[in-house]
Order: sequence, then C-alpha cells, then structure tokens
Amino acid sequence: MSSPIKCSELIFFVNGKKITEKNADPEEMLLNYLRKKVRLSGTKFGCGSGGCGACTVMVSRYDPVQGTVRHFSANGCLLPICSLHGAAVVTVEGIGSTKTKLHPVQERIAKAHGSQCGFCTPGMVMSMYTLLRNKPQPSLEDIREALGGNLCRCTGYRPIIDGFKTFCGASECCQNGEGGNKCCVENGSTHQDEDADISDELFRMDDLLPFDPSQDLIFPPQLMLMAQKQDGGRLCFQSDRVTWISPRDLSDLLELKAAHPDATLVVGNTTVGPKMFVKGAYHPVLISPGRVLELHIVKRVKNGVILGAACTLSMVKDELERAVQELDQEKSKVYQTLLQTLRCLAGKQIRNMATIGGNILSANPKYDLNCILAAADCSLLVMSKGGTREVPLNEEFFTGFGKTSLRPDEVVLSVHIPHSRPWEFISAFRQAQRREFAFSIVNAGMKVAFAEDTDVVESLNVYYGGVGPTLFRAAHTCEELAGRSWDGELLGEACRLLGDEVTLSPSAHGGKVEFRKTLTLSFLFKFYMQVVLELRERGVSVSDLPQEYLSALKPFRNEVPQGQQSYQLVSENQSSEDPVGRPKVHHSSFQQATGEAKYSDDTPTVQDELFLVMVTSTRAHAKMISVDESEALSMPGVVAYVSARDVPGQNRRMVFDNPEELFAEEEVICVGQIIGAIVAKTREQAKRAAAKVKVTYEDLSPVFFTIEEAIQHQSFFNPKRKLERGNVDEAFEKVDRILEGEIYMGGQEHFYMETHVIIAAPRGEDGEMDLYLTSQHSALTQEVVGLALGVDSNKITCHVKRLGGGFGGKVMKIAPLSAITATAAHKTGRVVRCVLDRGDDMLITSGRHPFLGKYKVGFMNDGTILAADMSFYSNGGCTLDQSPFVMEKALLHMDNGYKIPNLRGRGFVCMTYLPSYTAFRGFGGPQGLTMMESAVHEVAVKCGLTPEQVRDINLYRDEICYTHHKQLFSARDMVRCWEQCLERSAYHNRRLAIAQFNANNRWKKRGICAVPIKFGVGFSKWFFNQGAALVNIFRDGSVLVSHGGTEMGQGLNTKAMQIASRILKVPMSSIHIKETCTGNVPNAAPSAASFGTDAVGMAVKDACEKLMKRLEPVMKEYPKHTWRQWIGEAYCQRISLSSTGFFMGPYTDVDWDKSEGMAYYYFTFGACCSEVEIDCLTGDHKNIRTDIVMDVGRSLNPALDIGQIEGGFVQGVGLYTIEELQFSPDGVLMTSGPTQYKIPVMCDVPSQLNVHLLANAENPHALYSAKGVGEPPVFFGCTIFFAIKEAIAAARRESGLSCSFPLNSPATAERIRMACIDQFTQMVPSPEPGTFKPWAIDV
Ligand SMILES: Cc1cc2nc3c(=O)[nH]c(=O)nc-3n(C[C@H](O)[C@H](O)[C@H](O)COP(=O)(O)OP(=O)(O)OC[C@H]3O[C@@H](n4cnc5c(N)ncnc54)[C@H](O)[C@@H]3O)c2cc1C
Ligand code: FES
Ligand code: FES
Repeated sequence: MSSPIKCSELIFFVNGKKITEKNADPEEMLLNYLRKKVRLSGTKFGCGSGGCGACTVMVSRYDPVQGTVRHFSANGCLLPICSLHGAAVVTVEGIGSTKTKLHPVQERIAKAHGSQCGFCTPGMVMSMYTLLRNKPQPSLEDIREALGGNLCRCTGYRPIIDGFKTFCGASECCQNGEGGNKCCVENGSTHQDEDADISDELFRMDDLLPFDPSQDLIFPPQLMLMAQKQDGGRLCFQSDRVTWISPRDLSDLLELKAAHPDATLVVGNTTVGPKMFVKGAYHPVLISPGRVLELHIVKRVKNGVILGAACTLSMVKDELERAVQELDQEKSKVYQTLLQTLRCLAGKQIRNMATIGGNILSANPKYDLNCILAAADCSLLVMSKGGTREVPLNEEFFTGFGKTSLRPDEVVLSVHIPHSRPWEFISAFRQAQRREFAFSIVNAGMKVAFAEDTDVVESLNVYYGGVGPTLFRAAHTCEELAGRSWDGELLGEACRLLGDEVTLSPSAHGGKVEFRKTLTLSFLFKFYMQVVLELRERGVSVSDLPQEYLSALKPFRNEVPQGQQSYQLVSENQSSEDPVGRPKVHHSSFQQATGEAKYSDDTPTVQDELFLVMVTSTRAHAKMISVDESEALSMPGVVAYVSARDVPGQNRRMVFDNPEELFAEEEVICVGQIIGAIVAKTREQAKRAAAKVKVTYEDLSPVFFTIEEAIQHQSFFNPKRKLERGNVDEAFEKVDRILEGEIYMGGQEHFYMETHVIIAAPRGEDGEMDLYLTSQHSALTQEVVGLALGVDSNKITCHVKRLGGGFGGKVMKIAPLSAITATAAHKTGRVVRCVLDRGDDMLITSGRHPFLGKYKVGFMNDGTILAADMSFYSNGGCTLDQSPFVMEKALLHMDNGYKIPNLRGRGFVCMTYLPSYTAFRGFGGPQGLTMMESAVHEVAVKCGLTPEQVRDINLYRDEICYTHHKQLFSARDMVRCWEQCLERSAYHNRRLAIAQFNANNRWKKRGICAVPIKFGVGFSKWFFNQGAALVNIFRDGSVLVSHGGTEMGQGLNTKAMQIASRILKVPMSSIHIKETCTGNVPNAAPSAASFGTDAVGMAVKDACEKLMKRLEPVMKEYPKHTWRQWIGEAYCQRISLSSTGFFMGPYTDVDWDKSEGMAYYYFTFGACCSEVEIDCLTGDHKNIRTDIVMDVGRSLNPALDIGQIEGGFVQGVGLYTIEELQFSPDGVLMTSGPTQYKIPVMCDVPSQLNVHLLANAENPHALYSAKGVGEPPVFFGCTIFFAIKEAIAAARRESGLSCSFPLNSPATAERIRMACIDQFTQMVPSPEPGTFKPWAIDV
C-alpha cells in the first residue's frame, strides 16, 4: 500500500486489563506480544506454527446479536494481535497464582504429577480451563477433545488426564467405578492393592480445591458495550512493512478486494500464519474479513446447509452435529461423514481458529475437506464487485498447489453442502503418520448413487488428496463404472482402472509413493465393503462379504489413556516427617502450572538487547567461495554479522582428535552447519536478514548420507569397538540352526518442548560473561565459551534455572551455540539472546543415531541361543560428538537379559555428511537392545515358538551372573520383573485371545510382545561418575541447596530436597534450590546416564551430613531448642553453616582389548508387555494395553519414578512407531517441525497403561537403595514394534506368506501397510531401484 493511512486504535483485554495499542503491528502475533510487551511469560513458544499447543490461551468474544459470550482456546502463536479488536484474552497468569489462589485446574495438574518439565503445562491448563468455561462438568471424551492439540514430551499424558478427570462426574472418572465398586472420587482415596504395603495412590482426591465456576473472570463489560455500539468503520493497522485492513461490511470487503486484488485474505491465519513464521512469506496487504456478517452465516435451506466461509471448523462441527440430530438419517449422511473427519482434523485450538473457507481456498491436497465436499457435489458462492456466481467445488476449481480458479478480486462467501439423497452413499477416508493432529498422507471422499432399489451404479465420485499437487478425481474410473452392478467384479475392475489412473512418479513430492497408491485402493475397497453392507441392509446386494472382513470398517476408537500404578509404601517405622520414599509432587509444579516458573527465554529483555539468528549451510559438502552479508547488514535493525573471524579465541577445537568448528571457515560438511550469525534488534529482523546472507559454494565430493554409502566408502570414525565372549565361530559349528538378518532403526528428534535458548551478557570487566541458558552440561558450556572468547573459565558463569525438557539433546550442542552467542555479545558489547526456532533446532542440533544392525545367530531347535555375531553401524553424521560412546553403550547392552554364551559385537560409527548425531535418552542402549530382540524374535519364528518362550529360555537367572563384558550382577530382580509382568498382564490368556481374534478378522490383526530389560546406570567413563553440591544454612534456619545437576522435569531438585530434608530433619518447605550455576558448583558432570539422582543425591547427602556433624554438639547442648535456635546458636559459636558435598562414584571402565570391565555402577531391571491392533489395509495401528513392572530399588519418590517410566515409554512408542525423520537425497532435513514430525499425542498412549514398581527390591550400591530410571523405559517402546510385527505376520500368514520378514523401525503406517502384502499391494508395481531419484532416503 503506497501512502500511509490513518491507523486505528486496537483495543482488547488481557486477563481483565484493557490494552490500547496505537501502533499495532500486523505481523505481530499474540504470543510474542504477551511475552515481550505485556511481560506475561507464562504462555510458551514451542513451535510457532500451531503444532504443539504450548501457546494456548482462551479468547472470548461477545456476540451482540445472540447476546452471548463465546469462549474458545486458541494458539497464541497464530493469533495476529490485529485480529483481537474487541476480544478478551485470558492467559495462564489470569486464572490463578501461587501468590493469591490457584485455579483448580492448575492445582490438579500439579498434584496429579502432570507437570514434569512444565513447558507444556500452561498450554494444557488453558485448554482445560477453556473447556470448563464452556462445560463445567465435562466428559472424558470432552477432555480428550480439548487436549488433542497439546503435546507433552515428558509425562506420557496419563497423569495429566488423571488430574483433569477429577472434574468429570464420578461415573466418568475412573474405570474402577464400574461393576459396583465405588469410584475413587467417591471413596476419596484409592484402589487398594491386596498387599497391605502396596499402594496405588499417587495423589489424594480429598484435599483438592473445590471447583466453583462463578469465580472465573467475567467478560469485560466495556467490550460488550463496544460490540453493541459497533460504529461499523473500517479498521486499519499499519507497520512499515504491512497494512492490515478489516472492512466494515461486505461491500467494503468487495471494494477493498477490487482495489487490492493481490491482497491476502486472512481469517483464521492457520495457513497464512505458519507460512509467514516458518517460511518467511511476505504479504504487504492483509485483509481481515472477520467482521463481515455474511461470511459467518449458518443457514439450513431446503436441500442442504449453507455455511459462511468464515465459519470456524468448530462452528461447522457444532452445526453439523445439530443437523445430524435434526435431519433424518438418509439426508444427513454427508454431514456424518464430514463430522467423522472433523473430529480428527488438527487439534481443538486450530479448529477454533481455522475456517472452512480457508481450508478450501488453501487448495492444499493434504487438507481433508475438499475431497469430501467435492464428492458431495458442494458449491461455493463467490462474490466480487462485479456480481455473484455459484461455482461447483470440484477438480476444475483447483488449478494447482495452493491455486484455485477464483479471480483475484473475488471472495468466497459461503459453501453449500447439499443433503444426501436416497440411494446415495458417501464416505471419507484418511491415513496420516499419526491418527490425530496430523495432516493426512492420503485422504479420500467417495460417493456412489444407485438407481432406486437396485445395486446399479448411477454415478460415482471418487476424489483423492495427497496423490498429486491438487485435488484428484478418478474421472475415468468413475465413468467406466457407471451402469455396473456393485459387486466383486466391479471392485476388481475399479482397482485395475484406479491403478492405471492414479499416476505418481517414483520421485513424487512427499515420497511414500507405493504406499500412497496402495492407500487409494485400500480406501476404495473399504468403501466398496461399506456400500455392500448398506445395500444388504436394504435387501439389495447379492455380493458376498465374509464376516471376518467387517471389522475393517470399524475405525479405531481414540480413548483417554487410563491405568493403574502401584508402588511399595515406606516402612511404618519411618518418621512421618521424612519425605524420602513418598510420592511428593515436583517441587515447582505449582509454579509451572501458573506460568510463574521461569525458563531461560522468560528472562525479561534488557535495554539494547540484541537477537541472534544463525546462518546455516544449504549444501552438504562444499567449499565456501564467498559469503556476502552486505544486503543483510543494510536491512533495518541489523547490527552485525558474526563469523569465524570474530571469534577472539578458538573457532576450532579438537574433540578426541577430531576437529569441531563453531563457524565453518572454509568448507561445509552438512546442510545446517553454522556459517555465521546475524544480530539485530528483534528476532524478526534477524530472521529476515539471515535469509539474505549470500553464500556461494563449490560442491565437493564425496558426498553421502546413508549408513550403506558410508560402508561402501569405508567412512568410519575411530575407535571401532568389539566385544566378545566365548568362542562364537566354534559355537556356530555346534548349533542346530543358524539364521542371518538385519534391522535398521531410524533416528529420533529430541523434540523437547523448549528449544535451545542462550542469553549472553557481557559484564564489561575482565572479560566476564554471564550466560543464562538451556544446558544439561553447564561445565562443558562454560569451558567451550571460555575457549571461544580466549578467557579463563573463572570469568564465564553459566546459569540454568530449569529446562523445558532435555532428553540428552542439551548436553553437547548447547556449548557451541553458546560460544557463538557469546562471541556476538563480545563483538557488540551488548546482551545477545538466541532462541532457536523449532526448525533450526531440529536442523542444527540433530538427535538420536540411526543404526543398522546385522546379525548371525546360532541356536538349538528348542530356542536356546548359543551364539550370536552382531555388527552395529551407526550414522554419526559429520563430526564425532558423542558417537563412539553411544556405540559403546549399544555394544554393552547387546546381551540385554540373555545369557548367550558366545556373543560377539562389533561397532562402527559412520562418518556421513549429515548434521552430527548426539546424545539422546538411552544413549545407544535402545538400539543395542533392539538388535538382540530382533534376533530373538526371528529365532522364535524359525523354531515355531513364541518370542516370549525364547526369551524365557535364554534369560539370565542366577544370583551370580556375568554380563558379556564380565560385570557381575544378580538376575534375581530381573526375573521377578519378567514373571510378574507376564502374570499382571495376563499374557498367556491374552495370547490365546489374540489368536482367536486374528482367526476371526481378516483385515484387522493383533499382536502381543513382552520383553525384559537389563540396563546399565552411570557412565562407563569413570571420571563422569561424580557429583558435587553446596548446602548453605542461613541464620533464619532456611536452607539453600546448590548442585551440579540440571532440573529438566525429571524431579532432580525434588529428590535433592527430599534427601536434604531427611538428613537435616527440616521440612522440604524450608529448603530451596535456586538454579544450577557454574560459579557455585564447579566442574559438574552432565545430568545424564540415569545417574543424576545418584550423583547429586549422594553429594547433597554428604554436604548435609557434614553440616549435621558440625551441629551435633550444639544440638546435644541444647536438646530442647528448635532448628532455628540451633542455627542461631551455631552461628554465635562461629560454626560454618556452609558445606560442600562430594560423591566419588565407582570406577567404571571397559578394557576393549580384553572385552571386560565394570561398565556400570549397577543395573536397573524391568519388563514390559504390550498389545496392539493393526489395520492391514491402511497401516494404522492402535496401542491397546501395556503393562510395565520396573525395578527401581527402593524408590526415592514413586510418583516421579512412575512419571519417568511412563514418559520414557511413550517417548519410546514414538521412536519405534511414528517418529520418522526424512532427508532428501541432497541431505536436507525435510521433517523440520511438528507439522512434518510427529511425536506421540494422547491417542498414541495405550488405552490402558499399567505401571508397577517392583516391591521388596533393593540396590545395595546406591543412595537409599534407589535406582536410576530415566533412560531404560524408552526401550519398552519396542514391545509395540514387535507386537506390530506379530500382527503383520498374522496377516501375511493368511496370504500364504512367510512370517519371517524384514521390518525396520519405526513401524510407520507405510511400513505396516506395505508389509501386509495382499492383492492390493500387488497391484502397485515397485519402481526399479536406481532408476529414479527418491523424494526421501533412509539415512
Ligand atoms: C497445526 C495445524 C494442523 C492442521 N491439521 C489439518 C488437518 O488435519 N486437516 C486439514 O484439512 N487441515 C488441517 N489444517 C489446516 C487448517 O484446516 C487450515 O489451515 C484452515 O482451515 C485454514 O483456514 P484459515 O481461516 O485459518 O485460513 P487463512 O490462513 O486465514 O487463509 C488461508 C487461505 O484462504 C484464503 N481465504 C480464506 N477465506 C477466504 C474467502 N472467504 N475467500 C477467498 N479466499 C479466502 C486466504 O486468502 C488464504 O490464502 C491444520 C492447520 C494447522 C496449523
Ligand atoms: S507455539 Fe503455538 S502451537 Fe506451538
Ligand atoms: S511436562 Fe509436558 S513437555 Fe515437559
């Protein structure tokens, strides 16, 4: 827009306070505005694209016509502030606080242990709060729906549900309410286990704040008046880049569209917004038609329903639900079909914002509605200044990806959805990477109309999305089938025709080509069966449909996860004041639930602060010919470009003889490598400028990305490792049988909810620098920053308050990122902040190593394994990082719980041109264990046994056992876990029931799998096995504990406080932990290896014991004194009230030449059993039930330990099933945000998830007999994988195929479907490998 316009005043409310913004910026989203301008940092940034729910707020609007207030949850990251004129926003800070009063939602999520790292908690709270505003007594289904758009990476969701379901009526609350038993709400406590000292009560129901809806914030009366008095004027907001116009009415809208045909209409902003934030799309003029009444119309007409284009998907859903209730069934079929899709389309927040018009006009074939609307013969009412026209919504309307035949001056006014007619049947299908909150891979809408009272097809409409750049109609197939009878012959012909008509090049965008083509056939087959059934009901169809086919038509039900958790109570003799062993809540969970808990980026900005954005390589292996930052430097707000030449100290450092550079100097070795950084006044300015830095490259060879290619190039990092027990080669001579196989396990993104954050603050004296950051290893960060700046570590101080999740991803990569930010701070002399966008975080910091395992196993016919020879290849990426140690851990875990007398493993870390892989919870353990389990599974298939029989036969069982690296351990508790797990899960009965189910169902199959685990705790490098703490007692008796560990949700601080409380005999409320600071506790080891509590706990105990020893004489002298008096007296006696504590852990090391050594402090044991069901036609699966029995010794805190087990397991479910990273053949990461990369949501958690802590378990080695449990449960996700494999085998058996077949991890819908070979997959030819460039490769 050329000339400046008069800007309107933007008025809205936040938490009851009026905001008047005179210079509203059209590009500013509410999330940023709240955090930076209103200084409410409770609402969190997790992705910026609507994909995580961390930014959820409640928005309320008054409707003057209806006289009602509508409350809805929304994603703050996609809400332009300009769209909020007249709205009231409520954030997590607005509903309660620890200083005044908690809202019951906040209290209950905290008390139910539903907040670990807490980063998702405000979003969860606001989703639930909004639900309660609309429905004070919700059902479980309401809760499921309300939380469907909120991700949590820590908890596994179950405790969140447990907290929130207390708002439901008693009948909904818990499964134990069934069968005449009283529900837990009614009896106020617990489902008591038979054993007296076993409890399943993790929180008490009887001391919760009552929920009183009348206490909630009222809608501001001023906004009601404003809405009633609407003056109807245009609203305009303008920045130096963008103009936002909100027309007063329809004619104004058409006027504007005529004057600015290129202007973008923005309604819900859920398509436009992510493109602006993630892809940098620029729209100089935005027209927001939200106030145009005609666009919100909802009208029933004689032959259908008319919905205004600006109706949100939630409003559409409500209206269609009404229509289904009120219209007769025949007419409402199309609405039922739409509803079925709307229920799983996106999350609640998105559905509250996204509009039906936006969904259609985004013209994105992955969006679900167009297929159905087109199949249902819907039409659009289109308007411009020139007039109105009705346009059929069909394939001709969509002219390309994101393109329609709408003229630039036209807008869509409404959508007309006609009623279904008699003898017409319609259905919709979709398959996505994850069943909920995920774009479909392929979607379909199908409608058939029959001549009355016959099965003769009058017309057929088959539409697909996801098989090309735009909506696709199988026109030829539909025409050919008209006039035919709906029978098996028609089906065969339809599949043949479709196979020819749906053409997808093997290199097609989105990949998964054979799967997508197969889905088109599978969907058609499902539609065929549905229609046969309907016809049969009407007494028409003669087609045969076997009974066992019918379950294929039942969609999986998404349920709210429930389950039982049990643990052993502390001894009756333990003092009631002593918190050790009790399920204490995470000590900052209330602050987390109110948004008061501070994360690194919640630190308020200071004057002159700058923001840093990285400039990264777009080539995988190339020489940098030139870098031209001049254009970037000339852009508004840009202060500096920082690169290797600005590093005052070392840009390059050696890590075990391998170089690592902060900034690439001459050559780049992966896409995503940091070349430089732009520092500007704001994040947006820095982002825009970073995109303008021009780098010219000269490609170098070789360049390769996959493990297979690295093997061909013999490209390995050193050292290569080998472990061997017995004589493998000799044993192979003696066994009955030998099998060989391999399994590939893809990598995994950490997807901690809080991305990497660093704030570097130069202190201006002696080179001092303070850093506030997200590090699991502050000491390393301190060292690397010091090296980069050329100053000693004593000048660098790292502060970590808490992390919004770490999972190993914030151990290593944070160090160079911090050094770069510190370099920028050094260069500019100003405070510099770097908050990685989700995409940059995923690209730059990488994740879990992909592994390829090749094995040869020798076994007897009874399943006894006598020899195994395994080769492990990991993809290490372009630099060393921790790859050798990850590989060592894989080798050290390859025996799992099995006594295989002759066992050999070799480990090779491949060097490839990908971003360097790093530590991730489990650290190679899951990969090593999975290789062995894969081999065991195959042995069972060959022997005709169940895998559990083979596991059982080969289990270590003795009190005195030695691992394959000759470490002594007792297998007693592992065997107890295994046996109890089989018993508690009713494994044997369920296996029989599954066999029955499989015999009765052709297209749905079930599988079950149970595995044991033996997992090493601690670092196999002895020097990391240390912990340090500092405990200070102040004169008022309060205690400040500092330690070297990092609180990242696992509850380390809570456990440290429990320990300090026990030793000092003061309540936990007198103890405080402020932060982790390298200035207080130096040289700390990383918080990793499940060893945090062992190290920190022992150090805190040591410090407290020293203090108690010093206090002892005073206590003896004044036995009647209080604690405070003793401290006062000790002060007067000049007794030091400050003590360090130290824990020197065990000496662990492995002599790799001798294949022996004590690698671990001790072992944590457990067992897990899972059952799944798969849909053989689509590859979808449902996790039905999981039972875990875990030995954590004498738990220090059962609630936190169970939280770690459930959270770790669900992270494992993601690893083994839905989390798939995809790289282009040029090494570009294409799954760079929650839109493409799917972590588990609630529907992925088994409907029943039971966790039991093994009773009467001891651990003589560690603190109060407890065991570390952070990492091992991730591996339990493999039970889902192998259960899926069993289910696939059952399907293959029916097709006469071998049950021995390769299946790589993760078992995605694509892999499941394509392994269930049948007549449909066989109709899709596989392209010849090497004859095309695939869209994605397995690295
Ligand atoms: C996290 C996430 C998950 C999602 N999951 C799904 C899913 O599973 N399935 C699915 O189908 N969709 C999904 N979506 C897409 C979502 O449904 C669409 O983004 C939404 O419907 C678009 O509506 P909007 O009002 O936000 O459009 P906007 O972003 O405001 O606009 C989108 C486009 O439509 C044009 N437009 C809008 N209204 C009109 C009109 N009246 N006349 C002319 N042009 C108009 C705009 O100019 C713009 O080009 C998801 C989106 C997100 C962010
Ligand atoms: S930050 Fe808004 S949804 Fe992720
Ligand atoms: S507690 Fe949910 S993401 Fe950490």
